[in-house]
Amino acid sequence: MTILVTGGAGFIGSNFIFYELQRHPEDRIVCVDKLTYAGNLSTLAPVLEDPRFRFYRTDICDRKGIYEIFEQEKPEIVVNFAAESHVDRSIEGPEIFLQTNIIGTSVLMDACRTFGVERFHQVSTDEVYGDLPLDRPDLFFTEETPIRTSSPYSSSKAAADLLAMAYFRTYGLPVSISRCSNNYGPYQFPEKLIPLMIANCLADKPLPVYGQGLNVRDWLYVEDHCKAVDLVMRRGSVGQVYNIGGHNEMRNIDIVRLICHELHKPESLITYVKDRKGHDMRYAIDPTKIHRDLDWLPETKFSDGIVQTIRWYLDNKPWWGEIVSGEYQSYYERMYGNRA
Ligand code: NAD
Ligand code: TYD
Repeated sequence: MTILVTGGAGFIGSNFIFYELQRHPEDRIVCVDKLTYAGNLSTLAPVLEDPRFRFYRTDICDRKGIYEIFEQEKPEIVVNFAAESHVDRSIEGPEIFLQTNIIGTSVLMDACRTFGVERFHQVSTDEVYGDLPLDRPDLFFTEETPIRTSSPYSSSKAAADLLAMAYFRTYGLPVSISRCSNNYGPYQFPEKLIPLMIANCLADKPLPVYGQGLNVRDWLYVEDHCKAVDLVMRRGSVGQVYNIGGHNEMRNIDIVRLICHELHKPESLITYVKDRKGHDMRYAIDPTKIHRDLDWLPETKFSDGIVQTIRWYLDNKPWWGEIVSGEYQSYYERMYGNRA
């Protein structure tokens, strides 16, 4: 079987490609990635020579380019990870989020209709459900929770989900959607909370915690997410949404303290900075459906996964060292320069 993976040079997409090539040696992977600031071809170096793997540097909004790839590769499954994924950048400039996350998804689904596929799987996020209050720990996001977005990022992801469901109903496209909570693990771009704090800690730089650090995220090790997507795209029902999360809620401040502790750095590096605009308070997934229907459960405990992740960043400094010295520097200045 040929599986076309978009966004495979990014964090979750690359982990997914490694997972697929290892677990399904009979399948071929075709990766389509524009290589934006968040995409890194060096991440895929271990598989670039694998005869079961092929890479195309193409924008998912480029209809002609995408159609040519479909014609050439004839994928049976398409899984769409490609997206602009950072909430802070979406607040700075929403337009590219609408372009890639909405228009790009529609181009891919049009290609699926034109060439025929067995499955189009859309990788979505729990952020489409908005947030939950801190004083109601009994509430969780289920697949029936109404969509109620907060940021341009989550709004663009929600729009793509709605469009995917419309293509299912209107054209009968065999679509599935998964909505996962926050991921952590190897190859995450250092603009996101966990790798940013690790990188800053190692450089003895201030650790910028937004607001009071009381916001809660439900963290899942990236490989557990990959396994869930693999199950949903192969065995999940069409026209269905599956939530993915492992009941691992943590306050931001506790994560940052834990990273300081693991790296033997003083908590005095923690600096409280101006809050994110529209900052979601709490995300929490109810994963009952994917557990019941597809027998999925997370395998990595947070206490192990975070230590593994910190170790990975310690062992792979050239990978992220290059990133934090490039375009990222001017982003960092813009974003954090006068936030104190
Ligand atoms: P990422 O930013 O690390 O990677 C995104 C990848 O998409 C990059 O390789 C980038 O080059 C590529 N890309 C961007 N625009 C493109 C375009 N127009 N055409 C082709 N490629 C393009 O993102 P990630 O964290 O790996 O997230 C992957 C997917 O998972 C996204 O759809 C995101 O919404 C979703 N998701 C992420 C998380 C998380 O915690 N990171 C949680 C739930 C869902
Ligand atoms: P992030 O990794 O950007 O993921 P998301 O916003 O999609 O959940 O942020 C995770 C949490 O950490 C979020 O509540 C914002 C917070 N945060 C900080 O406090 N400081 C930072 O420098 C960053 C990047 C995030």
